[in-house]
Amino acid sequence: MKVSKPSDNLEFSTKVASDRDIEGDRLRLERLIGSTVSDAQIDIGADAIAGLKNTPKTLSPHYFYDDRGSELFEQICELPEYYPTRTEATILRQCAPEIAQLTGPCEIVELGSGSSTKTRILLDAYQELAHPLRYLPIDVSGGILESSAQQLLLDYPSLNVHGLVSTYEVALTSLGSSPLPSRMICFLGSTLGNLNPQECDIFFSEIIDALQVGEYFLLGIDLHKSKEILEPAYNDAQGVTAAFNLNMLHHLNWRFDGNFDPQQFEHRAFYNQEQRRIEMHLQSRRSQTVRLRTLDLTVEFEKDETILTEISRKFELPQMADYLQRKGLHPVKSWTDPNQWFGMMLTQLRQD
Ligand code: AVJ
Repeated sequence: MKVSKPSDNLEFSTKVASDRDIEGDRLRLERLIGSTVSDAQIDIGADAIAGLKNTPKTLSPHYFYDDRGSELFEQICELPEYYPTRTEATILRQCAPEIAQLTGPCEIVELGSGSSTKTRILLDAYQELAHPLRYLPIDVSGGILESSAQQLLLDYPSLNVHGLVSTYEVALTSLGSSPLPSRMICFLGSTLGNLNPQECDIFFSEIIDALQVGEYFLLGIDLHKSKEILEPAYNDAQGVTAAFNLNMLHHLNWRFDGNFDPQQFEHRAFYNQEQRRIEMHLQSRRSQTVRLRTLDLTVEFEKDETILTEISRKFELPQMADYLQRKGLHPVKSWTDPNQWFGMMLTQLRQD
């Protein structure tokens, strides 16, 4: 998930900021990551090289999200087997008015905002209370950030949007202070599940450093449940998740001039009970050699060898509350659905 050192990116951003910013009365978009494809490729390629040289082989989930991958993910969210997106939206519709009440007027920061669909539920609640609306979406994809911001501005006449095209870690170090009395950083969709415990610790230190005492952090997490429900969510009947997983190889091919044959790999997803995580792998159907030319990398696969492309950890609300409390994020309130499949938690940074 780490793309590069924040300091490098920040320096770079100031140089390109002027011609990259889109200024408007109510819209401001800032690019904090390298604006040329090749900068990103050099940084990102390093983690692909490291991952493919690992035993077992791994690749970072951010390689899912080229244009086709983002499209496939939107389709996943609509699948009958994939319950997280719609369950989270249902919970949000129920708790958003209470969240707006609890935080009072605040700037809404969203990490990995994507199409901002669920954000609308929050904006509606703040609008209902006549709170000023300020939204700071953060996403690595500038295209989706701009189009969803434009749409939001049309639908919310009093809204101000300040979007950051950036990785989380870079954006979190450059938020500045909020013009509103408070701020709430939102991390929805259980994206946290992609991080292993160590990465989680680092992530929460970055969150805490970005918040002032009294400000809020809103977290959406997928909860532990039987594998009879979990596994179909990652092995859907229509094969969309398989296509999403295999698309990573197409992505690597175009990005790094590679010769992966996706037909020679198979989608595998299962629940690892001990570690409480879904693991998604790409399994080699035969022994084969693959070359990624621009990375000057040759990779050997044995028959049945796998690449771990994603972990999706499943959590429990009480444990998460304890963990966040120890980090200094005081749990204010949590919500779940009647099946307890998904959880939403509002926390506040308190002085310890
Ligand atoms: C976006 C990381 C929350 O882990 O469920 C969906 C991604 N992968 N189907 C998840 C995903 C396969 C998703 N997250």
